[in-house]
Amino acid sequence: LEIDGKANHLFIRDWNDRVSATVGSSSVFTCPQKSNITMVTWKISPKVGGPCTLGYRADWNKTDRTNCSDGMNWKFRPDRDPTLEIRQVKIAHEGNYTCELVAAEGNFHQTYHLTVLVLPKSTLECDDQGNPVCQAAAGKPAAQISWVRESNLTPSEEGHDDGTVTVFSKFTAHSTEVTNTTCIVSHPAGNWSKSIACRSRNLILYVSIILCFLSIIIFVAVIYYFKLHHDRLCHKTKPPETALTHSPQDDTMEVEPYTTYVQKENVIYNSVSDLTV
Ligand SMILES: *[C@@H]1O[C@H](CO)[C@@H](O)[C@H](O)[C@H]1NC(C)=O
Ligand SMILES: *[C@@H]1O[C@H](CO)[C@@H](O)[C@H](O)[C@H]1NC(C)=O
Ligand SMILES: *[C@@H]1O[C@H](CO)[C@@H](O)[C@H](O)[C@H]1NC(C)=O
Ligand SMILES: *[C@@H]1O[C@H](CO)[C@@H](O)[C@H](O)[C@H]1NC(C)=O
Ligand SMILES: *[C@@H]1O[C@H](CO)[C@@H](O)[C@H](O)[C@H]1NC(C)=O
Repeated sequence: LEIDGKANHLFIRDWNDRVSATVGSSSVFTCPQKSNITMVTWKISPKVGGPCTLGYRADWNKTDRTNCSDGMNWKFRPDRDPTLEIRQVKIAHEGNYTCELVAAEGNFHQTYHLTVLVLPKSTLECDDQGNPVCQAAAGKPAAQISWVRESNLTPSEEGHDDGTVTVFSKFTAHSTEVTNTTCIVSHPAGNWSKSIACRSRNLILYVSIILCFLSIIIFVAVIYYFKLHHDRLCHKTKPPETALTHSPQDDTMEVEPYTTYVQKENVIYNSVSDLTV
């Protein structure tokens, strides 16, 4: 295991010469250390794109390069140390790196298999339903998502053209309480974790039902109050209203005693006439 301390980037080498480096870090590949080098060649075959070579001939004290990008070069003077360096690792650098060395002692070669890691952008948010949603976006390889509160959740994955993968996982809580949920994103380029407390949708639902009922009660109460108030207002204003305007009902009330009187008179007259008869 090698840690490139200067740039603070991860650089892992295992016994099978599998090398991994994070995007943006610097990576170095060493050749077998031999004195009196006659010739050294780096043959690079990336996963995507054409091959490239970097060579040095001691008899001409001359280096040459074909197709190799500027970011890829000798770390030191090749006649002394033929170490290869990639200053800023990109996903396109992924592939095989072989050093072929001719020295007085004999011929040597060494191959490295470079894997480029991309640290995912991790986020933890509450969705509309109040469920925590954890996402590790554009990671390479795909990150692992786990939750502190143990559950059997299968995260969804979404691949991208550049070889990165976005992984997302939703934590569905069945209780209405607001509790802290922790998401852990595990990735070879670095781990990440965050806690969040989401307001469950159920709780919001209960609160809104209660609020709904309260507003209906208040509405009814307000209507009742105004109705009562209006009725009182009517009683107060009625007497002067009747005094000012002569309603037809009042006319009949005035007329009626007269008619009854007439009727009575008639009755009396009738009875008198009856008597006289
Ligand atoms: C390397 O070359 C020098 C002369 O250039 C010679 O003296 C020395 O012995 C050589 N070393 C080996 C290991 O061949
Ligand atoms: C790199 O080497 C491995 C094993 O030797 C081989 O399977 C793979 O195809 C090589 N990749 C490239 C891009 O040459
Ligand atoms: C350089 O690149 C071209 C096209 O990408 C390829 O055909 C050629 O073989 C490469 N040359 C070497 C020396 O790798
Ligand atoms: C090889 O060339 C470099 C410059 O390109 C020079 O500094 C070095 O001294 C030369 N080495 C030999 C052995 O001539
Ligand atoms: C990430 O966490 C795992 C344990 O979950 C640990 O084995 C690994 O070393 C950690 N990786 C880094 C880069 O911190």
